[in-house]
Amino acid sequence: MKKIILSILTGCFTLTLSAQTKITLNTDLAKTKINKHIYGHFAEHLGRCIYGGMYVGEGNTKIPNTAGVRNDVIQALKELKVPNLRWPGGCFADAYQWKDGIGPKDKRPKMVNMWWGGVTEDNSFGTHDFLDLCERIGAEPYLAGNVGSGTVKDLSDWVSYVNHPGGSPMAELRKQNGRQNPWNVKLWGVGNEAWGCGGNMTAEYYSNIYRQYATFMSDSKDAKLYKIASGASDGQYDWTETLMKNIPHHMMDGVALHHYSVLSWKETKGPAVGFTETQYFKTMDEAWKMDEFIKGHSTIMDKYDPQKKIALIVDEWGGWYDVEQGTNPGFLYQQNTMRDAVIAGLTLNIFNNHAERVRGANLAQIVNVLQAVILTNEEKMLLTPTYHVMKMYNVHQDAMLVPMNIESPNYEFNGKKLTAVSSSASKDASGNLNISLTNIDYTKSHEVTINLRGEDFSKVSGKILASSKIDDHNSFEQPNKIAIKDFSGVKFEKGVLKLTIPAFSVIVLNLSK
Ligand code: AHR
Repeated sequence: MKKIILSILTGCFTLTLSAQTKITLNTDLAKTKINKHIYGHFAEHLGRCIYGGMYVGEGNTKIPNTAGVRNDVIQALKELKVPNLRWPGGCFADAYQWKDGIGPKDKRPKMVNMWWGGVTEDNSFGTHDFLDLCERIGAEPYLAGNVGSGTVKDLSDWVSYVNHPGGSPMAELRKQNGRQNPWNVKLWGVGNEAWGCGGNMTAEYYSNIYRQYATFMSDSKDAKLYKIASGASDGQYDWTETLMKNIPHHMMDGVALHHYSVLSWKETKGPAVGFTETQYFKTMDEAWKMDEFIKGHSTIMDKYDPQKKIALIVDEWGGWYDVEQGTNPGFLYQQNTMRDAVIAGLTLNIFNNHAERVRGANLAQIVNVLQAVILTNEEKMLLTPTYHVMKMYNVHQDAMLVPMNIESPNYEFNGKKLTAVSSSASKDASGNLNISLTNIDYTKSHEVTINLRGEDFSKVSGKILASSKIDDHNSFEQPNKIAIKDFSGVKFEKGVLKLTIPAFSVIVLNLSK
C-alpha cells in the first residue's frame, strides 16, 4: 500500500497532512465463513509444553489439577475458546508410538525424545489424557499420525482405538483402559514435515506414502475423518504442486503449510526481549510473508482444485527467537512481548481475509514453547500478550467475513517499507459487526477512517491491547502488566468511524444495530 502524503501549496507555505488508513467495509456482501479452526493451537511433547506446562500428574504435586492437568490452564483455555488442539507434534509425532501411552502409567515403556533435548519421555501423558483434556476445554482434538517411523497398521489401529464404537480389538482395548465411548476424533494429520524431521522424503515419495496410510484410516459411524497432508514450509511451492497432482482429491481434505516469523535458521534468531528495531522490522517482514505464501500456495491449489474443496491448513505459525538465557536450548522457551501481540493480530487478519482457502491454523505452541499463550513457572501461571490478542479476535470464529478495501500507510525503516495497518472484519450470528485492526509501526500511531456501506449500525464499543514499550511483557512478578482495556477513542457518525491506533497495538471494535 502507498503512503499518501497530501501536500497543499497555499501561497507561501506548504501544509503536509499525515497519511491516513482508509477502510471501506461492504457489510452486505459477506458470503464466506471464517472457519473457527483458524484459531487452533498446538501442543507438542517439547520442553515444558506438556510436562509442567499442562500436565503435572495426579500425585506428588501441590498444583491444583484435574486428572493431572493444571486447573489454571484448563480455565484459561476454556475462556480462550480453543477450537482445536494439535498433538503430539510436530517432529515428535513421527517418533511417537501411541501404544506406549495407554494402560497403567507405571507399566508404560519410556522413550528418548530424540528431537527435543534428548530427555526421557515416560509416556505418562498419552491418548486418554490428551483427548480427555480436549473434552474439558471444549476443543476438537487434531491428532498428528506417525508416518515417519510408525507402520500403516499402527496408525490404522490408533484411528480405531479412539473412534470405533465397539466390537473391534482396538475398541475393546480402549474399554479395558477405562473409556467406553469413542472420542470420535475427526481431524488427522498424516505425518508432519515429511520433507524434514518426518522422514526426509521427496514430495513424490510422500504422496505415495500418504495414499497408502490414508487408505487404512477408516471413518466410523460418528466420525468422518478430515485428513490433512503434511505440507510445505514457506515458499516450497513444488511440494504443494506435487501433492495436489499426485494425491486423489477424495482422499485428502487439507494440505498443511508451516511458516514461522524467524530471523534466520542458521544464525542467531535474536532475543525475545531487548531486540533492536532492525530485528523487529525483519520479524514483521517475515510475519507479512504469511500473506505472500498463502497467495502462492492457493494459486497452485486453485489450478487443481478451483472449487476450493481442499483447505490450506497453516498448522504451525508464530514468532521464533533464541531461547531464554539459562534454559535448555532444546526446550524452545521464550518470552512473549508486544511484538508477539502484533504478529498475532497481523497473522489472524491475513488468515481471516483468506478464509475461502485457509480453513484451519495452529499457533506454535500453546504453553511454554515458542509463541505461547500461557507461561508457567512451578505453581505460577501467566497469560501472554498473544493470549489476549487471540481472545480479542475470537469474535471472528465462525462469523461471516466482510469484504473490505484497505489503504494503509507504510511502516518505513532504513529505506524499507511494510504496510503498517492491517485489518479484517466479520459479522456474527447476531448480526453484530467486529472489526480488528493491528498497527505494526514501531514508532507511529495512525489515523484510521472506516466507511461502512450496506447496513446501518448504531452502537460501537472497543477493546485495545497496547503498552508503552515494544518489548513490554507479562512476567511472573507482574503478570498483568499487559491486559485488554476498553477503548473509547472512536468517533462514530453517519456510518463513518474515526480513530487513532497507537504504535504496535491491536484494537477490536464491536458494532451493533
Ligand atoms: O514447533 C516446533 C517444531 O517446528 C515442530 O516440531 C516442527 O514441526 C517444526 O519444525
